[in-house]
Amino acid sequence: MNIVYLIGFMGSGKSTAGKKLANRLGYQFSDLDEYIEEKEKKSISEIFETEKEEGFRLLEKKYLRKLKPEKETVISTGGGAPCFYENIDFMNQTGLTIYLKMNVNQLLFRLTQKEQNRPLLKGKSKEQMKLSIEQLLKNRESYYEKAKWIVNGFNIDIPSLAKDVSNYFKKSGEITKR
Ligand code: S3P
Repeated sequence: MNIVYLIGFMGSGKSTAGKKLANRLGYQFSDLDEYIEEKEKKSISEIFETEKEEGFRLLEKKYLRKLKPEKETVISTGGGAPCFYENIDFMNQTGLTIYLKMNVNQLLFRLTQKEQNRPLLKGKSKEQMKLSIEQLLKNRESYYEKAKWIVNGFNIDIPSLAKDVSNYFKKSGEITKR
């Protein structure tokens, strides 16, 4: 089963790119956070409120493994997903992981475009947001960099990425470098 996992920081465009990539490839699209919300019948913010980050991470781990697509699928994952409970290893074992890489200023730009309701950034000033991004990115980068492929998330070329993905799967999982 061909599965593509998009990983990367909040605001790196995983859902937008994921939908476009899936469309181009003729794959299904799933969003792990939406799947969690649907199954738990609660928003991500409500889960953070009632179960705190620890509770959310357990659900994230559980539903990542439960997703089991029956068709070829592009899955976009929450920004913290690869960094807990060996989730990145699970994704690498079950599909093609792609890290949409962006730097702090690009992320800050994206994340300050509209009001933030992400629990980890909500209510922060621009300066506080920059500090949080720097800190979190520093802690997370080593997990993100375990992705099979790393692409520039700011100027992502979907048609060319889609071509590379289908070649990758044609070679049936053979390790290809981008
Ligand atoms: C999180 C990112 C969010 C969501 C949750 C936690 C994180 O997803 O999973 O708020 O820890 O970076 P997006 O990356 O889609 O915003």
